[in-house]
Amino acid sequence: MFKRTHNCGRLRLSDAGKKVALAGWVHSYRDHGNLVFIDLRDREGLTQLVFDPETQPQAHKLARTVRHEWVIAAQGVVQPRTEGMKNPKLPTGEIEVLIHQLQILNMAKTPPFEIGAAEKTGEELRLTSRYLDLRRPEMQRKLQTRHRVTILVRDYFDKLGFWEIETPMLAKSTPEGARDFLVPSRLHQNCFYALPQSPQLFKQILMVSGVDKYFQIVRCFRDEDPRADRQAEFTQIDVEMSFVDSNDVIGVHENMVARIWKQILGIDVKVPMRRLTYKQAMDDYGIDRPDLRFDMKLKDTSDIAKQSTFKVFTSVIENGGVVKGLCAPAGDKYSRSDIEKTLTNFVADYDAKGLAWFKVKQENDTTTLIGGLAKFFSPELQQQLLQRFDAKDGDLLLFIADSEAAANKALAPLRCKIARDLKLYDPESFEFVWIVEFPLFEWDEDEKRYDSLHHPFTSPVEEDIDKLDTDPANIRSQAYDIVVNGSEIGGGSIRIHDPKVQAKVFDLLNISKAQAQQRFGFFLKALEYGAPPHGGIAFGLDRLVMLLAGTDNIRDVIAFPKTQRGQCLLTDAPGEVDQKQLDELNLRVQRHSHIIEEKADEQS
Ligand code: AMO
Repeated sequence: MFKRTHNCGRLRLSDAGKKVALAGWVHSYRDHGNLVFIDLRDREGLTQLVFDPETQPQAHKLARTVRHEWVIAAQGVVQPRTEGMKNPKLPTGEIEVLIHQLQILNMAKTPPFEIGAAEKTGEELRLTSRYLDLRRPEMQRKLQTRHRVTILVRDYFDKLGFWEIETPMLAKSTPEGARDFLVPSRLHQNCFYALPQSPQLFKQILMVSGVDKYFQIVRCFRDEDPRADRQAEFTQIDVEMSFVDSNDVIGVHENMVARIWKQILGIDVKVPMRRLTYKQAMDDYGIDRPDLRFDMKLKDTSDIAKQSTFKVFTSVIENGGVVKGLCAPAGDKYSRSDIEKTLTNFVADYDAKGLAWFKVKQENDTTTLIGGLAKFFSPELQQQLLQRFDAKDGDLLLFIADSEAAANKALAPLRCKIARDLKLYDPESFEFVWIVEFPLFEWDEDEKRYDSLHHPFTSPVEEDIDKLDTDPANIRSQAYDIVVNGSEIGGGSIRIHDPKVQAKVFDLLNISKAQAQQRFGFFLKALEYGAPPHGGIAFGLDRLVMLLAGTDNIRDVIAFPKTQRGQCLLTDAPGEVDQKQLDELNLRVQRHSHIIEEKADEQS
């Protein structure tokens, strides 16, 4: 094989006349009878090779035999492309290499899809032949972006004196809220390890160990249904620091984000970033991860709606609910059927029972509301509604009457859909925000107990610690989430370092002393041996890379991802195992009934 002199993205007009050797995959070939052209591809780009029967008959003859995705090496001389043959879209588009010698290094079966046209191929097929899918230039760029982010992060933390320390993958279950993946132990029969949902307890213990500044790029496992931005197996940039307050943690990490955005995208991110309290976020956007690329705030209009004669509104308010809504600027682009079908069906997916609407119309000098419900609002009330939203001619007002939580649940995604439909923002822009002052607990109506909004190790703000005994619902926590364009990319908190406070929190979560001892006695014990005040955060690395790579599919930024059904289509995991393996683990599976069910499915 020839020794490569350049990669396929490298050669320029200034290299004309040089003798070079390239190697790679046949991306495309065109046989013009006299001349053969091959676009040769490697991870750095494409270079056009030319084979001329006049000057190099042997190489030309061989070139006529190659097919898509064969692996070849070729040697020749760089020459400028003739006018009209230049390709301004390719960095190497001004040159070609006239080949003297060609070597076929490997043949390839006809690929199940063409690498250059993979976007048109279903994702399932691409995941099954992931090695072909990853050959696509845009996938290679995503792999590279991910690599660059991890290198940058490691360098950033190293310079600040953080140590990267690995924590166990075979661990004990920690209460982070999701279902654990369990691993049976052979040596301790009937016992199980849990794969970590995050290294939360280990990193806190590292603070007790005096490590002071820890980070880790670490795989986490949560047995949840995968979604567009969620995988059961994902990666965190995980950090913990001692002797810090929340401003210290926020400062270090907004600078990290700014550095990543600058180096990967060349974008200057303004720091310090904006902050919103949880309450502000919920009031104005209905969600704790608001997309701030556009304004369109939600407004509670219950005070106005309760004076109307519209029964649906008044009775919801009488029962403790709200009438909350938004004003879509120039929203009269939506026809009546768009509103009553498309938008109403959209909110119904979020369990809303209906969507009330008014269009705003200016006639002569007066602006009024029109639509079926306008008659229930006196002119004066109409003016109050218009003022509340600062609404103008051509706007559309949309309302949901329900409990505040239910209204928010539907209005928050509706706000984003409308902004998308009406193109209210630049899709290339980024708006960062820290959400702070979360409540420590939320009430779980089904289980009739408090639940942590983050996790049970989050510290209350100091002034609220007394409320642990008297008013748990109104305790604010020292937690913070970082949100960009409506996506939560990271979250963390200052932790409880006092074992007495930690025990009280477990108590409120209905975790008995015995349970707490059994599940995290080791951790409570560690807190008793001089735990420094500490806090930290974890970023979702996959989500960060998704934003940087401009994709909304998390599988695009993971080399070997799982499908929505948690399968790896390349290796066909999860799969059945041998009886011998099960025997060693003292496990029994109901293989038989599983097969019977499958047979029944096939027959029906
Ligand atoms: P949390 O559970 O908020 O915090 O996770 C931190 C960040 O990880 C990302 N993330 C995910 N990404 C992809 N797929 C998933 N299934 C998934 N789940 C979470 C999100 C999220 O913001 N131990 C705490 C952190 C701490 O307090 O220090 C924790 O894990 O971007």
